[in-house]
Amino acid sequence: MLRVGMIGAGMVSQHHLLGWQKLHDAATIVAIADPGAENAARRAGAFGIPRTYASAAAMLGSEQLDAIDIAAPREHHAELVRLGVANGLAVLCQKPLAPTLAEAAALVAETRGARLMVHENWRFRRYYRDAARWLAAGSIGAVQQCQMTLLTSGLLPDADGVRAALVRQPFFRHERRLLVNEVLIHHLDTLRVLLGELRVTTARIGQTCTDIAGEDNALIGLRAESGAAAVLLGNLAAHGSPATQADDLLVIGTTGTIRLRGNRLERFGAAPEAIEYDMAECYQDSCDAVLAHLVDCVRTGSAFETTPEDNLHTLRLVEDAYRLSGWPPAP
Ligand SMILES: NC(=O)c1ccc[n+]([C@@H]2O[C@H](COP(=O)([O-])OP(=O)(O)OC[C@H]3O[C@@H](n4cnc5c(N)ncnc54)[C@H](O)[C@@H]3O)[C@@H](O)[C@H]2O)c1
Repeated sequence: MLRVGMIGAGMVSQHHLLGWQKLHDAATIVAIADPGAENAARRAGAFGIPRTYASAAAMLGSEQLDAIDIAAPREHHAELVRLGVANGLAVLCQKPLAPTLAEAAALVAETRGARLMVHENWRFRRYYRDAARWLAAGSIGAVQQCQMTLLTSGLLPDADGVRAALVRQPFFRHERRLLVNEVLIHHLDTLRVLLGELRVTTARIGQTCTDIAGEDNALIGLRAESGAAAVLLGNLAAHGSPATQADDLLVIGTTGTIRLRGNRLERFGAAPEAIEYDMAECYQDSCDAVLAHLVDCVRTGSAFETTPEDNLHTLRLVEDAYRLSGWPPAP
């Protein structure tokens, strides 16, 4: 039984804790640490976690743990990872591993050899697993072009003036690096899984919502080592789009096309196929898969899929998008 300490009791922690509940035969959350006593108590009450602490250091000082699960804000990730590694624990850390590529690279160099896995869940979504399987089997030939989009109206005020994205995640207000570092980081990582290593060829980043400090729209051009061209378009303030996040994907190959639209993944060409998903389930599912993968790798000693070294490739794409677009603009 893996004894896990949860760090951070905010919005996303509910998805972690629901996932840990499903792994009750293999792991148990013995404590939760959060300087916000109310948040810690709320999660402890809802998930039957025996003890709460005001800090990760206090938790590690009192508990016998095998692993920690970090879901605190990004600016605390590196210090919390260092704490877990120094205590010889397996560490799962939410993305982004650190606020910048330089800070993440320094952390990775310092913690080399530790049992550290990045919680990058998008690539674990069932439809992306299926698309990756189709691509690996060569079922659409050589990929020529790819387009991924994430359009939401979450930052537009509704009839009552409420911006849904800021209710769900209030910290969106103050992040200077918002859309790419917080959200599109997932899409960049997934594109790497689908298309292989990429480089950023062009990026245009902007802001229309005045209630936030960072960017809410981005267009990122990419080129794969195979030569395929890709474009990632994201906008959190797009009129006519739903308030919730939903991805669209189009991958055009020499002998077929793969399209994700709504809840349907479809392959066109010589051997057509279509799969439909319960999209609401797919998000929780991807968190569950991350946790199950961590437990399995810790048990068997096998390598994590989302190692910090692998994640640096994704963080480099994030950094290059900011650099090439000149975002954030000088104050
Ligand atoms: N993978 C995903 O799909 C996904 C989705 C949402 C958020 N996230 C990531 O999860 C992390 C948390 O996001 P959130 O939406 O839950 O944020 P949040 O603001 O809702 O919650 C953060 C919590 O961390 C606590 N906290 C602050 N400093 C801490 C510290 N030093 N130690 C322990 N707890 C501390 C806060 O009190 C708060 O309860 C971020 O890195 C975010 O990028 C990932």
